[in-house]
Amino acid sequence: MTRTRALALLLALAASFFSHSVAATDIIDLTTSITGNQTLVSAGGVFQLGFFIPPGGRRTYLGIWYASIPSKPVVWVANRNNPLFRTPGALSLTSDGRLIIVDRRNSTVWSSPAPTTAENQITTRAAVQLRDNGNFLLSSDGSGSPESVAWQSFDYPTDTLLPGMKLGIDLKKRLSWNITSWNSASDPSSGLYTFKVILGGLPEFFLFRGPEVIYASGPFNGAGLTGVPNLRSPNFVFKVVSTSDETYYSYAVTDPSLLSRFVANGEAGRLQRYVWTNGNWSSFWYYPTDPCDNYAMCGPFGYCDMSATPLCSCLPGFQPRSQQQWTLRDATGGCVRSTKLTCAGAGDGFWPMNRMKLPQATNATVYADMTLDHCRQVCLANCSCRAYSAANMSGGVSRGCVIWGVDLLDMRQYPGVVQDVYIRLAQSEVDALSAAAATRRRPKTKLLIAIVAGVAGVLLLGAIGCCCFWRNMKRKKVQAKTEPSTSSRGQRQAEDQIDSEEDVDLPLFNLDVILAATDNFSVDCKIGQGGFGSVYMAQLEDGKEVAIKRLSMRSLQGVGEFKNEVKLIAKLQHRNLVRLLGCCIDGDERMLVYEFMHNNSLDTFIFDEGKRGLLEWKNRFDIILGIARGLQYLHEDSRVRIIHRDMKASNVLLDRNMIPKISDFGIARMFGGDQTTEYTMKIIGTYGYMSPEYALDGVFSMKSDVYSFGVLVLEIITGRRNRGFYVDELDLNLLCYAWTLWKEGRGVDLLDEAMAGPYDYSVVLSENATMPEPNEPGVNIGKNTSDRDTDLYPITAHSGTNFTEVDAR
Ligand SMILES: *[C@@H]1O[C@H](CO)[C@@H](O)[C@H](O)[C@H]1NC(C)=O
Ligand SMILES: *[C@@H]1O[C@H](CO)[C@@H](O)[C@H](O)[C@H]1NC(C)=O
Ligand SMILES: *[C@@H]1O[C@H](CO)[C@@H](O)[C@H](O)[C@H]1NC(C)=O
Ligand SMILES: *[C@@H]1O[C@H](CO)[C@@H](O)[C@H](O)[C@H]1NC(C)=O
Ligand SMILES: *[C@@H]1O[C@H](CO)[C@@H](O)[C@H](O)[C@H]1NC(C)=O
Ligand SMILES: *[C@@H]1O[C@H](CO)[C@@H](O)[C@H](O)[C@H]1NC(C)=O
Ligand SMILES: *[C@@H]1O[C@H](CO)[C@@H](O)[C@H](O)[C@H]1NC(C)=O
Repeated sequence: MTRTRALALLLALAASFFSHSVAATDIIDLTTSITGNQTLVSAGGVFQLGFFIPPGGRRTYLGIWYASIPSKPVVWVANRNNPLFRTPGALSLTSDGRLIIVDRRNSTVWSSPAPTTAENQITTRAAVQLRDNGNFLLSSDGSGSPESVAWQSFDYPTDTLLPGMKLGIDLKKRLSWNITSWNSASDPSSGLYTFKVILGGLPEFFLFRGPEVIYASGPFNGAGLTGVPNLRSPNFVFKVVSTSDETYYSYAVTDPSLLSRFVANGEAGRLQRYVWTNGNWSSFWYYPTDPCDNYAMCGPFGYCDMSATPLCSCLPGFQPRSQQQWTLRDATGGCVRSTKLTCAGAGDGFWPMNRMKLPQATNATVYADMTLDHCRQVCLANCSCRAYSAANMSGGVSRGCVIWGVDLLDMRQYPGVVQDVYIRLAQSEVDALSAAAATRRRPKTKLLIAIVAGVAGVLLLGAIGCCCFWRNMKRKKVQAKTEPSTSSRGQRQAEDQIDSEEDVDLPLFNLDVILAATDNFSVDCKIGQGGFGSVYMAQLEDGKEVAIKRLSMRSLQGVGEFKNEVKLIAKLQHRNLVRLLGCCIDGDERMLVYEFMHNNSLDTFIFDEGKRGLLEWKNRFDIILGIARGLQYLHEDSRVRIIHRDMKASNVLLDRNMIPKISDFGIARMFGGDQTTEYTMKIIGTYGYMSPEYALDGVFSMKSDVYSFGVLVLEIITGRRNRGFYVDELDLNLLCYAWTLWKEGRGVDLLDEAMAGPYDYSVVLSENATMPEPNEPGVNIGKNTSDRDTDLYPITAHSGTNFTEVDAR
């Protein structure tokens, strides 16, 4: 969020540098040129071409940027590695069909290649035109027809892919379409990050950081990129094409007025898609997205699964190369076979892995016409074969075969269907795995029989009371038809009650009062910044201290709805909830006025080197109990059930007596679901505290709050933050750390070493003796990004009025 903002600011700054005189044309021909601050503007006024100096830079470049919007990122640079020193420069078209940039002394600093084919030879009518799609196209006869194209900027991408541009390779025309990041915002020369295709067995797209691959799209299997299984969006059409002549990725927008760009972003070190929406560039999605996207994260023969803990596992029949490293959550060493292959025909077999991002296949061998059965035979007959799979899944039909004679790298497993890979193992391993799978299945069958028997019994007994039951059912159905569903009816009742009690205890504050109290929202009064806006400390005229939350997100609700919502929140009163005193509505501004908490938020205590020593075991325990009570009230005891959705240390405030009070409850409801704009679907919550099912699927429930509460408890006990999951060091992930200690019977080692005062180990252990079941310590996903916008992994929190969190009694 802040990054996008910083970028927007930078771009706005950049805009001020582009104070160009606008020429009324989009064409340069053999007789014209542009120089100094003259520019071309495309016919529809979408793009502009001219010389520019990047903000903060000194050199001059020729580039293309957006003309029609206030923020004008440069999408193409002609001479990124050949800047112009002696200005002004001039751009012109030579009679042999080259575009050249000359400096003040007429020496050429940059030139496009001369047309090579006979049909593209330049005529006197040749012209180069800036188009509304951002392409700068040289047509040998000025007609602009596809055959006449002698050169186009779309064939030489810089760091940005616009709709319609290709990223890949054209073997016939010997073109490599890749994007490479700028060195910095002030220097467009080639930076560290390059995204390009590598051909081979199956083509695949790779993001390089210098010589090192950091992300790979997964091999292209004819149907899609196996590492991007959900490449779908109503606003975009994505395309991957692979023929003998060319292989490329490109995208189009369904609504031509939607401005969109796909950038190798050097500052963020990732690929980023932006969409111009609501007067800003918003980051739509980015890659790599989650830890499993990191290239070869689990090493050879290992695979990654975001829903597993730890994320990395060895393929069946394999074991970690170094158990020690693996325990330390460093899986990059990968896995080795538990049992050697015999390499003799019948001595080996295969084990299928489902829903996989295929292992990197640029060095694999592809047989276009082989059936899978035949493929299996070929693999068995070749001792270096390690796995096989179908090569072409176009149309959902498997055709051809790909055989890996190399280590299997960069695999991950997805929850949805992607593709099966058949792993070659010694037959003894296959038998052992089959046997293990069978025993796992057997108790289930027994259970099934038990259930079936049980159900049958119940049915038999129930048959007696059946008639009455049906009669009851009928009556209920008739009732249901005449009345709205219970939950919405309940909600309405709750709202009606509130309406009937009218503003009695919910003062509406005047904006002037708020402005006076916060000194015009001065920085000095600002005490915090939360997910929903800034918080200011303020003193009302009567001397009362309050905290004012100025909501920053645009609510989708009208004033009436908002008031109702606020009244609903104000009704929630509990010793362990921060009390809402009133609100202020003025135009688009929405503010909430809360009681002031003198000891600030819990995180300023437990994570503060100086202060955390002040909290004894008893204080910490009381705080945990208080939070639990507050949460219990929200979930169970209040009139309207509220799911908090963002339980974390900074949302627990401490009053003078160190009584914890939950804040920010109920606000998530005000934003009409999670969809803040048409394009971005934001999840409300904080990574590190989010339960996996919420973070991945946007499914939230009371249980997600309880999960976050569990994380919070661990933080309070340990005085450590649960940061984003980032391997390497064990202690980076608090949950794994806690789980490891707990399993080893060293639970007390979790206690904050800075904790003051006496405590009794046995009491500490007994009071938090309920730990999760084995294999469920939970995972923690992603970095600390609150703006994980995505069309690839749709995080759709269920929006609308049927919120599970509204469950009025
Ligand atoms: C840019 O164009 C304006 C006219 O629009 C002109 O007055 C100014 O001198 C030009 N600046 C440079 C540096 O050429
Ligand atoms: C650059 O070339 C143009 C035309 O070819 C000429 O009119 C101009 O005098 C030259 N300038 C210098 C500095 O050589
Ligand atoms: C990217 O493409 C350019 C041509 O547009 C080519 O010169 C360059 O070598 C390519 N870079 C990589 C890393 O393939
Ligand atoms: C996959 O098979 C389809 C149907 O036969 C074919 O049209 C397509 O070219 C194949 N794709 C690749 C990448 O071989
Ligand atoms: C665009 O973003 C900036 C910074 O985030 C913000 O100040 C500005 O109000 C936004 N513009 C619109 C039209 O939303
Ligand atoms: C593929 O082969 C090339 C050339 O032989 C080699 O440099 C590269 O490391 C291989 N890649 C993998 C993943 O095995
Ligand atoms: C065995 O497989 C490897 C890798 O796919 C291949 O290079 C080699 O030619 C194959 N050998 C035979 C005899 O087919």
